[in-house]
Amino acid sequence: APDIPVSAVKADLDQLQSIADANGGNRAHGQPGYKASVDYLKGKLDEAGFTTQVQEFDHNGTKGYNLVADWPGGDESKTVMSGAHLDSVDEGPGINDNGSGSAGILEVALAVAKADLKPAKHLRFGWWGAEEYGMVGSQHYVSSLADADRAKFDSYLNFDMIGSPNPGYFVYDDDPRLEKVFKDWYATKNIATEIETEGDGRSDHASFKDAGIPVGGLFSGADYKKTAEQAKNWGGTEGEPFDACYHQSCDTVKNIDEKALDTNTDAIAHAVWELSS
Ligand code: PHE
Ligand code: CA
Ligand code: ZN
Ligand code: ZN
Ligand code: ZN
Repeated sequence: APDIPVSAVKADLDQLQSIADANGGNRAHGQPGYKASVDYLKGKLDEAGFTTQVQEFDHNGTKGYNLVADWPGGDESKTVMSGAHLDSVDEGPGINDNGSGSAGILEVALAVAKADLKPAKHLRFGWWGAEEYGMVGSQHYVSSLADADRAKFDSYLNFDMIGSPNPGYFVYDDDPRLEKVFKDWYATKNIATEIETEGDGRSDHASFKDAGIPVGGLFSGADYKKTAEQAKNWGGTEGEPFDACYHQSCDTVKNIDEKALDTNTDAIAHAVWELSS
């Protein structure tokens, strides 16, 4: 897999920050900054040759949107999907939560296009609305699939917070095969990983897991505090949260650890390449 330039991921985060700044400071479900975020990503994906769809749903009388992008080709009966929620909370611009995962999978998708990848399995990417209201968009997507289509997923990989400023390196342990793809890659980089426990069931992978689809993913930590042992392994500040700006107005472009963002985006690329080959 290619090395994804972190500069490109950061440029996307700058765009999402600008969108929030121009729209009342957030990119939340039902707010104009959310739809502007969808439009920004869709423009890049369309230009790169993806087939995109905006799926509308209604939540509490407010219109929400999922963005789904298919890379043409590959065996659709074995679809490898990567996803991230694109909405923020009302309180802030949501750059680590979850501009980071959204921009990370966007740049991996664009790298697929740039490489003109011809994977054996089909590749799909998704950006979910209204995760912060209880995984509403991803639930809607999974429930909208026919049973026969739900059976076509090889895997679903979820990325919700991958650039936390005091980062940890957590790998979802829901499925051993998917867990191993990530763990082995971090081992080659001499980066210690731990099993993800803070977020169990708290992000969009739950929608897929509940439907019987194998799920995996990465997480760099939210409001749990880094232990002394974790600080020894990963650096950063013991006794401080992984993300002290979690769900706050200070979750801006300053609230990102560039090395974590870089490493985790490269890990996503590795998994997408390996799982689809
Ligand atoms: N889903 C949580 C949120 O968006 C964050 C989270 C993700 C927590 C993954 C744990 C694991 O606020
Ligand atoms: Ca990189
Ligand atoms: Zn609803
Ligand atoms: Zn959140
Ligand atoms: Zn989140």
